Amino acid sequence: MKILFLGDIYGKPGREVLKKNLKHLKNEFSVDICIANFENLDDGRGISEKAAKLAFSYGVDYATSGNHLWDKPDSLPYLKLEKRICKPMNYPKPDIGMNFISAQIGAKNLLLLNLAGQSFMPPANSPFECVDEFLEKYSITENIIFVDFHAEATAEKRAMAWFLDGRVSALVGTHTHVQTADEQILPQGTAYITDVGMTGGHASVIGVQKDIIIDSIKDGVHKPYKTSQKGLEINGVMLDIDDHTNLTNKIIRIRRCFDGENS
Ligand SMILES: [Fe+2]
Ligand SMILES: [Fe+2]
Repeated sequence: MKILFLGDIYGKPGREVLKKNLKHLKNEFSVDICIANFENLDDGRGISEKAAKLAFSYGVDYATSGNHLWDKPDSLPYLKLEKRICKPMNYPKPDIGMNFISAQIGAKNLLLLNLAGQSFMPPANSPFECVDEFLEKYSITENIIFVDFHAEATAEKRAMAWFLDGRVSALVGTHTHVQTADEQILPQGTAYITDVGMTGGHASVIGVQKDIIIDSIKDGVHKPYKTSQKGLEINGVMLDIDDHTNLTNKIIRIRRCFDGENS
Protein backbone atom coordinates (compact mmCIF):
# COMPACT_ATOMS: atom_id res chain seq x y z
CA MET A 1 0.00 0.00 0.00
CA LYS A 2 1.19 3.46 -0.81
CA ILE A 3 0.50 6.24 1.67
CA LEU A 4 1.08 9.92 0.91
CA PHE A 5 1.44 11.99 4.07
CA LEU A 6 1.59 15.79 3.88
CA GLY A 7 3.00 18.09 6.55
CA ASP A 8 1.01 20.83 8.25
CA ILE A 9 -1.27 22.49 5.66
CA TYR A 10 -0.93 26.19 6.46
CA GLY A 11 -3.95 28.40 5.77
CA LYS A 12 -5.48 29.27 2.43
CA PRO A 13 -2.13 29.23 0.54
CA GLY A 14 -1.59 25.67 1.77
CA ARG A 15 -5.07 24.66 0.70
CA GLU A 16 -4.72 26.32 -2.70
CA VAL A 17 -1.45 24.57 -3.47
CA LEU A 18 -3.23 21.29 -2.74
CA LYS A 19 -6.18 22.25 -4.89
CA LYS A 20 -3.89 22.79 -7.87
CA ASN A 21 -1.38 19.96 -7.38
CA LEU A 22 -2.58 17.15 -5.10
CA LYS A 23 -4.37 15.13 -7.76
CA HIS A 24 -1.26 15.08 -9.95
CA LEU A 25 0.98 14.13 -7.00
CA LYS A 26 -1.32 11.25 -6.05
CA ASN A 27 -1.29 9.97 -9.63
CA GLU A 28 2.49 10.30 -9.88
CA PHE A 29 3.03 7.94 -6.93
CA SER A 30 -0.13 5.83 -7.44
CA VAL A 31 -1.07 6.43 -3.82
CA ASP A 32 -3.84 4.46 -2.16
CA ILE A 33 -4.50 6.95 0.61
CA CYS A 34 -3.58 10.54 1.40
CA ILE A 35 -3.25 11.77 5.00
CA ALA A 36 -2.39 15.34 5.96
CA ASN A 37 -1.84 17.32 9.14
CA PHE A 38 -4.66 19.89 9.48
CA GLU A 39 -3.71 21.76 12.69
CA ASN A 40 -2.92 25.01 10.78
CA LEU A 41 -5.55 24.53 8.11
CA ASP A 42 -7.82 27.51 8.71
CA ASP A 43 -5.61 30.62 8.84
CA GLY A 44 -2.56 29.03 10.39
CA ARG A 45 -4.37 28.28 13.63
CA GLY A 46 -6.93 25.55 14.02
CA ILE A 47 -9.43 23.79 11.82
CA SER A 48 -12.76 25.20 10.63
CA GLU A 49 -15.45 23.02 9.13
CA LYS A 50 -15.33 24.97 5.88
CA ALA A 51 -11.53 24.68 5.51
CA ALA A 52 -11.56 20.96 6.39
CA LYS A 53 -14.28 20.14 3.89
CA LEU A 54 -12.39 22.01 1.18
CA ALA A 55 -9.16 20.14 1.91
CA PHE A 56 -10.98 16.80 1.89
CA SER A 57 -12.56 17.73 -1.46
CA TYR A 58 -9.05 18.30 -2.90
CA GLY A 59 -8.12 14.68 -2.22
CA VAL A 60 -7.06 14.34 1.42
CA ASP A 61 -8.67 11.20 2.88
CA TYR A 62 -7.82 11.51 6.59
CA ALA A 63 -6.20 14.14 8.78
CA THR A 64 -4.08 14.38 11.89
CA SER A 65 -3.70 17.47 14.07
CA GLY A 66 -1.69 18.90 16.95
CA ASN A 67 -1.43 21.68 19.50
CA HIS A 68 -3.51 24.13 17.39
CA LEU A 69 -6.43 21.71 17.11
CA TRP A 70 -8.68 23.64 19.52
CA ASP A 71 -7.77 27.17 18.35
CA LYS A 72 -11.19 27.74 16.77
CA PRO A 73 -13.76 27.28 19.55
CA ASP A 74 -16.63 27.60 17.06
CA SER A 75 -15.37 24.44 15.38
CA LEU A 76 -15.62 22.19 18.45
CA PRO A 77 -19.06 20.78 17.54
CA TYR A 78 -17.72 19.86 14.09
CA LEU A 79 -14.51 18.35 15.45
CA LYS A 80 -16.51 16.25 17.90
CA LEU A 81 -18.39 14.63 15.03
CA GLU A 82 -15.90 14.54 12.15
CA LYS A 83 -14.66 10.96 11.87
CA ARG A 84 -11.81 11.74 9.44
CA ILE A 85 -9.78 13.99 11.78
CA CYS A 86 -7.59 12.42 14.45
CA LYS A 87 -6.67 14.29 17.66
CA PRO A 88 -3.50 13.58 19.66
CA MET A 89 -4.32 10.39 21.53
CA ASN A 90 -2.42 11.47 24.65
CA TYR A 91 -4.31 14.77 25.08
CA PRO A 92 -6.07 15.01 28.43
CA LYS A 93 -9.67 15.18 27.12
CA PRO A 94 -10.31 11.84 25.45
CA ASP A 95 -14.01 12.57 24.86
CA ILE A 96 -13.54 15.26 22.18
CA GLY A 97 -12.61 14.02 18.72
CA MET A 98 -11.23 10.77 17.38
CA ASN A 99 -8.51 9.16 19.52
CA PHE A 100 -7.46 7.11 16.52
CA ILE A 101 -8.91 6.22 13.14
CA SER A 102 -9.46 2.72 11.81
CA ALA A 103 -9.95 2.63 8.04
CA GLN A 104 -10.43 -0.24 5.62
CA ILE A 105 -8.27 0.40 2.52
CA GLY A 106 -8.84 -2.42 0.05
CA ALA A 107 -7.97 -5.65 1.86
CA LYS A 108 -5.93 -3.89 4.56
CA ASN A 109 -6.86 -2.19 7.80
CA LEU A 110 -5.10 1.07 8.55
CA LEU A 111 -4.82 2.47 12.07
CA LEU A 112 -4.02 6.18 12.12
CA LEU A 113 -2.60 7.61 15.34
CA ASN A 114 -1.61 11.11 16.34
CA LEU A 115 0.61 11.65 19.39
CA ALA A 116 1.80 14.93 20.91
CA GLY A 117 5.25 15.49 22.36
CA GLN A 118 5.89 16.77 25.89
CA SER A 119 9.11 18.76 25.37
CA PHE A 120 8.49 22.49 24.72
CA MET A 121 4.82 21.71 24.03
CA PRO A 122 1.48 22.28 25.82
CA PRO A 123 0.63 19.77 28.58
CA ALA A 124 -0.06 16.23 27.41
CA ASN A 125 0.04 12.78 28.97
CA SER A 126 3.03 10.56 28.22
CA PRO A 127 2.97 9.63 24.52
CA PHE A 128 5.19 6.64 25.32
CA GLU A 129 2.76 5.15 27.85
CA CYS A 130 -0.20 5.99 25.65
CA VAL A 131 1.10 4.28 22.52
CA ASP A 132 2.37 1.32 24.55
CA GLU A 133 -1.15 0.73 25.91
CA PHE A 134 -2.59 1.04 22.41
CA LEU A 135 -0.14 -1.51 20.99
CA GLU A 136 -1.12 -4.04 23.64
CA LYS A 137 -4.54 -4.11 21.97
CA TYR A 138 -3.63 -3.58 18.32
CA SER A 139 -0.81 -5.33 16.48
CA ILE A 140 1.16 -4.62 13.33
CA THR A 141 0.66 -8.26 12.32
CA GLU A 142 -2.97 -7.42 11.60
CA ASN A 143 -2.88 -3.69 10.81
CA ILE A 144 -0.90 -1.04 9.05
CA ILE A 145 -0.14 1.40 11.86
CA PHE A 146 0.75 4.97 10.93
CA VAL A 147 1.78 7.48 13.62
CA ASP A 148 2.08 11.27 13.28
CA PHE A 149 4.22 12.38 16.23
CA HIS A 150 3.52 16.09 16.65
CA ALA A 151 6.49 17.31 18.64
CA GLU A 152 9.12 20.03 18.89
CA ALA A 153 12.23 18.24 20.12
CA THR A 154 14.29 16.12 17.73
CA ALA A 155 15.51 13.97 20.62
CA GLU A 156 11.96 13.15 21.73
CA LYS A 157 11.01 12.21 18.17
CA ARG A 158 14.04 9.99 17.67
CA ALA A 159 13.53 8.32 21.06
CA MET A 160 9.94 7.52 20.05
CA ALA A 161 11.16 6.16 16.71
CA TRP A 162 13.50 3.67 18.39
CA PHE A 163 10.80 2.83 20.95
CA LEU A 164 8.37 1.91 18.16
CA ASP A 165 10.75 0.35 15.62
CA GLY A 166 9.16 -2.84 14.33
CA ARG A 167 5.90 -2.16 16.19
CA VAL A 168 4.40 0.40 13.78
CA SER A 169 4.61 0.83 10.01
CA ALA A 170 5.75 4.44 10.14
CA LEU A 171 6.43 7.24 12.62
CA VAL A 172 6.63 10.66 11.02
CA GLY A 173 7.23 13.96 12.79
CA THR A 174 5.25 17.17 12.37
CA HIS A 175 4.97 20.58 14.11
CA THR A 176 8.27 22.36 13.36
CA HIS A 177 7.21 23.13 9.74
CA VAL A 178 10.83 22.66 8.61
CA GLN A 179 11.52 19.47 6.68
CA THR A 180 14.44 17.33 7.81
CA ALA A 181 16.57 15.22 5.46
CA ASP A 182 16.84 12.18 7.74
CA GLU A 183 14.20 9.89 6.26
CA GLN A 184 15.11 6.25 6.82
CA ILE A 185 13.84 2.75 7.38
CA LEU A 186 14.87 1.73 10.91
CA PRO A 187 16.41 -1.75 11.45
CA GLN A 188 13.12 -3.45 12.35
CA GLY A 189 11.25 -1.94 9.38
CA THR A 190 9.58 1.22 10.68
CA ALA A 191 9.81 4.29 8.42
CA TYR A 192 10.94 7.47 10.14
CA ILE A 193 11.54 11.17 9.48
CA THR A 194 12.01 13.79 12.18
CA ASP A 195 9.75 16.31 10.45
CA VAL A 196 7.98 16.16 7.09
CA GLY A 197 7.75 19.97 6.86
CA MET A 198 4.91 22.32 5.94
CA THR A 199 2.59 22.70 2.97
CA GLY A 200 2.09 26.41 2.34
CA GLY A 201 4.14 29.60 1.99
CA HIS A 202 7.79 28.99 2.85
CA ALA A 203 9.01 32.55 2.16
CA SER A 204 7.95 33.08 5.75
CA VAL A 205 8.77 32.21 9.34
CA ILE A 206 7.06 28.82 9.62
CA GLY A 207 4.03 30.07 7.65
CA VAL A 208 3.68 33.64 8.97
CA GLN A 209 4.71 36.66 6.85
CA LYS A 210 8.38 37.12 7.74
CA ASP A 211 8.39 40.90 8.39
CA ILE A 212 5.76 40.46 11.12
CA ILE A 213 7.87 37.92 12.97
CA ILE A 214 11.10 39.88 12.49
CA ASP A 215 9.46 42.99 13.96
CA SER A 216 7.84 41.02 16.79
CA ILE A 217 11.16 39.49 17.83
CA LYS A 218 13.24 42.63 17.26
CA ASP A 219 10.88 45.06 19.02
CA GLY A 220 9.30 42.69 21.53
CA VAL A 221 5.82 43.81 20.46
CA HIS A 222 3.40 41.17 19.25
CA LYS A 223 1.62 41.95 16.00
CA PRO A 224 -1.32 40.03 14.51
CA TYR A 225 -0.12 37.17 12.36
CA LYS A 226 -0.76 37.13 8.63
CA THR A 227 -0.30 34.02 6.52
CA SER A 228 2.45 34.09 3.91
CA GLN A 229 1.38 33.46 0.33
CA LYS A 230 4.90 33.23 -1.09
CA GLY A 231 7.27 30.34 -1.56
CA LEU A 232 4.49 27.83 -2.04
CA GLU A 233 5.54 24.24 -1.39
CA ILE A 234 4.10 20.82 -0.76
CA ASN A 235 6.13 18.96 1.86
CA GLY A 236 5.54 15.34 2.74
CA VAL A 237 6.58 11.72 2.40
CA MET A 238 5.43 8.78 0.35
CA LEU A 239 5.53 5.40 2.05
CA ASP A 240 5.48 2.03 0.34
CA ILE A 241 4.14 -0.45 2.90
CA ASP A 242 4.80 -4.18 2.54
CA ASP A 243 1.55 -6.11 2.01
CA HIS A 244 2.74 -9.09 4.07
CA THR A 245 4.61 -7.59 7.02
CA ASN A 246 2.85 -4.17 7.25
CA LEU A 247 6.33 -2.68 7.68
CA THR A 248 7.73 -0.14 5.22
CA ASN A 249 9.83 -0.99 2.18
CA LYS A 250 10.54 2.56 1.06
CA ILE A 251 10.17 6.16 2.22
CA ILE A 252 10.48 9.00 -0.31
CA ARG A 253 10.79 12.56 0.97
CA ILE A 254 8.76 15.04 -1.08
CA ARG A 255 9.48 18.75 -1.32
CA ARG A 256 7.87 20.41 -4.32
CA CYS A 257 8.29 24.17 -4.89
CA PHE A 258 5.68 25.92 -7.02
CA ASP A 259 6.45 29.63 -7.24
CA GLY A 260 10.23 29.93 -6.85
CA GLU A 261 10.02 32.62 -4.16
CA ASN A 262 11.57 30.79 -1.25
CA SER A 263 14.88 32.60 -1.09
FE1 LIG B 1 1.85 23.15 12.59
FE1 LIG C 1 1.95 22.24 16.09
